[in-house]
Amino acid sequence: MKGPADKHPTNWDVREYLSEGKERVESRLGSLPLQGGKPTRARDAMRYALETRGKRFRPLLTIAVADIYRKGSSDLTLDCAVAVECVHTASLIFDDLPCMDDAALRRGRKTTHTLFGEDQAILAGMSLLADANQLIAADFRGRKTEARKRLECLSVLNASYSVEGLSGGQSDDLLDKPELTFEELEYIHAKKTGSLFVACAEIGAIIGEASPRERLWLKDYAKNLGLAFQIQDDLLDLKSSDVTGKDQFKDRQKTTFVSIFGAAQCARLYNDLIQVALDNLEPLGGAAFHVRALTEVIRERQF
Ligand code: IPE
Ligand code: IPE
Ligand code: MG
Ligand code: MG
Ligand code: MG
Repeated sequence: MKGPADKHPTNWDVREYLSEGKERVESRLGSLPLQGGKPTRARDAMRYALETRGKRFRPLLTIAVADIYRKGSSDLTLDCAVAVECVHTASLIFDDLPCMDDAALRRGRKTTHTLFGEDQAILAGMSLLADANQLIAADFRGRKTEARKRLECLSVLNASYSVEGLSGGQSDDLLDKPELTFEELEYIHAKKTGSLFVACAEIGAIIGEASPRERLWLKDYAKNLGLAFQIQDDLLDLKSSDVTGKDQFKDRQKTTFVSIFGAAQCARLYNDLIQVALDNLEPLGGAAFHVRALTEVIRERQF
């Protein structure tokens, strides 16, 4: 490890840390779309999707990983964190479309296409991806190291939702192949959900100038966390919309971890995987305290 503080300062409070991070992310999200100009329906749809309150775990993860190292400008960290949330929100708009999961509820409100129409929802999703790229690419300020980091973050983020990542995972997921094996399902979960979690960790590592070994540890951590996250998401499909803010029993016709293992074993697998993720952080020592604390908050999520 390259010199960051070994343990969390006394009086450090994870809830405060996360709510402060969330506030910064949401305030920046509130300034999107980046382009001013004439009001359009797609702009309204974009705003609607962004302002509907999500948990913001992905941007918080990006910030927490960057905070291990306390290197890199806070502007860069925030730009990347907000960009990740834009990609995630776009993926949710697309995932909810009638041609995909055909969902009516998201984050406790009507899905974007339900309110604005499929055409406008698709355009809003595209615009969010464009803004994600712009947020990272636009602000080089002539500094060479900053420019190199931004380029690398951009490449990692784009790869994460390519056909090798989130889009590929969603594609396989939508084939609705009957009787998926455990390995096939694990692969789909890793791609559709894990890829973006891994990108968050990698982007934080790039900003913080982590060593190649540290970057690998962080990627392993995020891979396991992402897989666990989707298993919990499958479990939450059994819970009422009042709790999750999403349609209940959307996965009834699908192979999920719950349909393969049953809810009880799934919950054990979930906890085991979170533990593996925490173990992956071990070599990073005390400096990863933010990431560890965030992981515990994610573990306890109820929606
Ligand atoms: C939902 O993600 C989609 C999945 C990949 C499981 P979240 O549960 O993080 O959704 P929000 O952002 O908090 O609404
Ligand atoms: C979606 O998985 C993963 C994405 C990449 C959006 P789900 O379809 O299970 O997510 P929810 O349950 O609708 O949030
Ligand atoms: Mg889906
Ligand atoms: Mg869905
Ligand atoms: Mg789900």
